[in-house]
Amino acid sequence: MHPGLWREVWVLSGITVGSLIFGAFIGRPFLVATLGVGAYVVLTLRHLRHLHRWLLDRQSVNIPDAGGMWGEVFDELHRILKETAQREAQLTEMLTRFQNAATAMPDAVIIVSQEGNIDWANPPAASLLGVRFPEDAGMRLLNILRDPEFAQYAQTGEFTEAIEITSPDDRQTHVTIQITPFGSRQKLVIGRDVTRLVRLEEMRRNFVANVSHELRTPLTVLGGYVETLTQMDQIKTDDLRKHLSIMHEQSVRMQRLVDDLLTLSRLETAPPSAHDEAIDVAALLAGLREQATLLSDKSQHAITLDADPNLKLRGNREELTSAFSNLINNAVRYTPPGRAIQIAWQAADTGAKFYVKDSGEGIAPEHIPHLTERFYRVDSARSRASGGTGLGLSIVKHVLLRHDAQLEIESEIGHGSTFTCLFPPTRTRTAAPAATLDKRSTDY
Ligand SMILES: Nc1ncnc2c1ncn2[C@@H]1O[C@H](COP(=O)(O)OP(=O)(O)O)[C@@H](O)[C@H]1O
Ligand SMILES: [Mg+2]
Repeated sequence: MHPGLWREVWVLSGITVGSLIFGAFIGRPFLVATLGVGAYVVLTLRHLRHLHRWLLDRQSVNIPDAGGMWGEVFDELHRILKETAQREAQLTEMLTRFQNAATAMPDAVIIVSQEGNIDWANPPAASLLGVRFPEDAGMRLLNILRDPEFAQYAQTGEFTEAIEITSPDDRQTHVTIQITPFGSRQKLVIGRDVTRLVRLEEMRRNFVANVSHELRTPLTVLGGYVETLTQMDQIKTDDLRKHLSIMHEQSVRMQRLVDDLLTLSRLETAPPSAHDEAIDVAALLAGLREQATLLSDKSQHAITLDADPNLKLRGNREELTSAFSNLINNAVRYTPPGRAIQIAWQAADTGAKFYVKDSGEGIAPEHIPHLTERFYRVDSARSRASGGTGLGLSIVKHVLLRHDAQLEIESEIGHGSTFTCLFPPTRTRTAAPAATLDKRSTDY
């Protein structure tokens, strides 16, 4: 028997014997014994009632204090309660941690019950998959996320691969969905926004198609001439020269395209700032202006240069030359003969700016956001005819990115365009005027 129970037996026996002896003294042994045992029973019943009340309403009733067997029972109850509370706190903490993590995730997370109903979902589930929690809690997921491909995927029960669908709220957003069964036939549905990847893949495909297309035309022309020449028995020197000149033109065009592609790929892969130096932009622009005058040739553009000789720029000479010359050449090529082109390099509110302002035909506003995309041209035939590859402004954009700079394009149809490169103060330094110039002032 349990020691506590033995003690109760002893207590009860003691009360009975004690009250019998005491009762014998006063001549009422049975009455006193009945009273003694009765008091014990009443006390026991009170503990029982208290326990019953506590079982019915654990929130507001406390576990009573008692000695003996009841004390042990109550202590044991205390211990069980404490353990349960601790386990509950642990579980709540774990659940809170899981929910916090799942809420903070950029991926959509939905927990689906065995019956296919929504148990829980995080905020991205609303934007990516249109499942709102707690509004949609308890609803069938297939009734909320109505996508035939998803319905088929969910019903096959074959979840080794993810599927890709478009977001029900925004058809431009691509989402991959992976279902993972867990627990007792519950499911975890995870949706990931892969729009960027899809776009990148699309860009890669377009890029390959564009390069192939750009190369095919000069190659076809070259191939045609080579074939014609090989089939001719005799050929006049003049004709030969004419043919060779066209062939040369086409090969130069291919060369330019390959050069621009290589420049772009270098800009994308080489680590920035590898060859940074203090550049005398004014001197560099003087050289580019000479080249622009040669390119302008018979067009006789009025090209002016206004550059601050004391304003230096920290950067990669080769890359900046390429960016500036692309902008200057565009101005020359897209401005009708005789009109003005201004080139400037000067201090600005936020660092320094280089700009080329032309008085050409201008660019319609809808084209401006796309100009720096590879192979984007407003007028393809015109660009090709003037020797453009369609890559110039992409190169400019990449060079500026590597120099923490920004490109601003302002243009008005019929009036001309201004292409401005804004460099931050961290990249520029104003040297002392030439007379007091010492070595330190040009160092960075
Ligand atoms: N100064 C300019 N004036 C008018 N249009 C321009 C000017 N610069 C660029 N563009 C337009 O932007 C397009 C993209 O320029 P770019 O990337 O340098 O390619 P490309 O000059 O080889 O065609 C050009 O085809 C042209 O339509
Ligand atoms: Mg160009």
